[in-house]
Amino acid sequence: MEFQQKLEETRDLFFPARLPGEAGMTARNVDADTFRKEVTEIYAAVFTDRDAHPYNPNEELAAEYRTLHREHILIENSRGEVVGWVRGRMEDPDTFYLGTSGLLPEYRAQGLAATGMPRFFEYLHTLGYERVTSQHHPHNRAAMILQLKCGFSFEGINLDERWGPMVKMVFFFGDGRRAEFERRFGFEQYPKTPQPAGR
Ligand SMILES: CC(C)(COP(=O)(O)OP(=O)(O)OC[C@H]1O[C@@H](n2cnc3c(N)ncnc32)[C@H](O)[C@@H]1OP(=O)(O)O)[C@@H](O)C(=O)NCCC(=O)NCCS
Repeated sequence: MEFQQKLEETRDLFFPARLPGEAGMTARNVDADTFRKEVTEIYAAVFTDRDAHPYNPNEELAAEYRTLHREHILIENSRGEVVGWVRGRMEDPDTFYLGTSGLLPEYRAQGLAATGMPRFFEYLHTLGYERVTSQHHPHNRAAMILQLKCGFSFEGINLDERWGPMVKMVFFFGDGRRAEFERRFGFEQYPKTPQPAGR
């Protein structure tokens, strides 16, 4: 089966997705233009003091890059108002990279991310991915604690002139990759990575 067909069929199985919290919270896939328009409306309320270098890539190269699999997901409340987002893309054929996510402050700390993430990962695994990566500012405690609780490990740190310092994290589907990660990088005196809750 062509990947595009598999993608459409799998999306139909997983989306729109019901989320916990107030009744009627959903996550749905949209196209890139809708995503950009909707996220622009709430971006400044989620990231109040973003300090990023302008990102103006070469148009032809950007178009080529956009041909890789990507996901644009809007989180909406029961009135259909956009209150958050998740966007990610293929990093390599093994790996899905969670590029950006955010919730308006009044929708945080209600378990939306902790319960939505395992379901989203099930979707990614069904598509064939074997790892998920993310990057976070070293002071973004909420994001990194959430990722650790969901079973991520620290993979590295990037110093990028566009985004500043970023801690890279990785999640593995299946015990084989996790065991190999721990064989190569583990410390005997520390406990092994716990299985994430509910998995
Ligand atoms: C990161 C973010 C998406 C988390 O979403 P959320 O739905 O609020 O997270 P949850 O309520 O599911 O929390 C899950 C766990 O994460 C941890 N966590 C969440 N917020 C936290 C905070 N402010 N401080 C410390 N830990 C936190 C907790 O361990 C929590 O579990 P617990 O409630 O059982 O203690 C949200 O805080 C957000 O939108 N932040 C601003 C944008 C952002 O930083 N995006 C990520 C960029 S990489």
